[in-house]
Amino acid sequence: MSKITIQDILRRKQKEHRNIAVLTAYDFPFAKLVDEAGIDIVLVGDSLGMVCLGYDSTLPVTMEDMLHHVKPVSRAVKHALVVADMPFGSYQTVGSALHNAKRFIKEGGAQAVKLEGGERILDQVKSLVRAGFPVMGHLGMLPQSIRKIGGYKVQGKTKDEANQIFGEALELERAGAFAIVLECVPNSLAKRITKKLNIPTIGIGAGPDTDGQVLVLHDLLGFRSQVRPRFVRCYADLDSVIRKAVTRYRQDVLRRKFPSLEESFKG
Ligand code: KIV
Repeated sequence: MSKITIQDILRRKQKEHRNIAVLTAYDFPFAKLVDEAGIDIVLVGDSLGMVCLGYDSTLPVTMEDMLHHVKPVSRAVKHALVVADMPFGSYQTVGSALHNAKRFIKEGGAQAVKLEGGERILDQVKSLVRAGFPVMGHLGMLPQSIRKIGGYKVQGKTKDEANQIFGEALELERAGAFAIVLECVPNSLAKRITKKLNIPTIGIGAGPDTDGQVLVLHDLLGFRSQVRPRFVRCYADLDSVIRKAVTRYRQDVLRRKFPSLEESFKG
């Protein structure tokens, strides 16, 4: 199977009318499984901070943290498009956005970058696109802005907020973004944006009418280390699978039932 391109992603919406399946991954073995299952886009999200690094928000995640995880994901993925999430503080100016996006593409092996925000980051998006970096936008509930918005809350509920997000989606498309993540917005707003844009919308907590869906892999797999938002559907219960396996191993070691002679070397 050949590598999915930006043009393939645009074609899914514009010609094939086929939904786009996106998942996060943060390391080699999980990224390989996700890719082999046929996912279209693998996002190395800055949710890394909460899922793998034990932070209580995405704010402390650094470029070095992200690169450390983008590299093995890029090595594992043979088919999907790999998108690297630009962490908080890494795209405050056009210069820093260009510098850090270049690192993700050249050192990390990603095919595109994702930035959170609308109006505030249009210059960065335009400059990145002009310089040849494919950009995925991200609107609605922006985890990097939780200090400003006061927590993980649905955005775009009032008419003014909805119009602001709608306008920013149009601006991001005009600036050259190839897709936009819509996080935690009402279904009706996501539907309105999706109808209006030529580029695909990828929803998370945005209802069924977007052009694609994204979830955090560990939420979908049923790891229970974090609060589970209402929009998550668990497709497995790896939390209890792993707990049971580790408990059985511990018991076998304590009772001298592991290893057996078959699992040992003869002298
Ligand atoms: O960081 C992340 O995983 C994300 C997705 C949830 C969209 O931004």
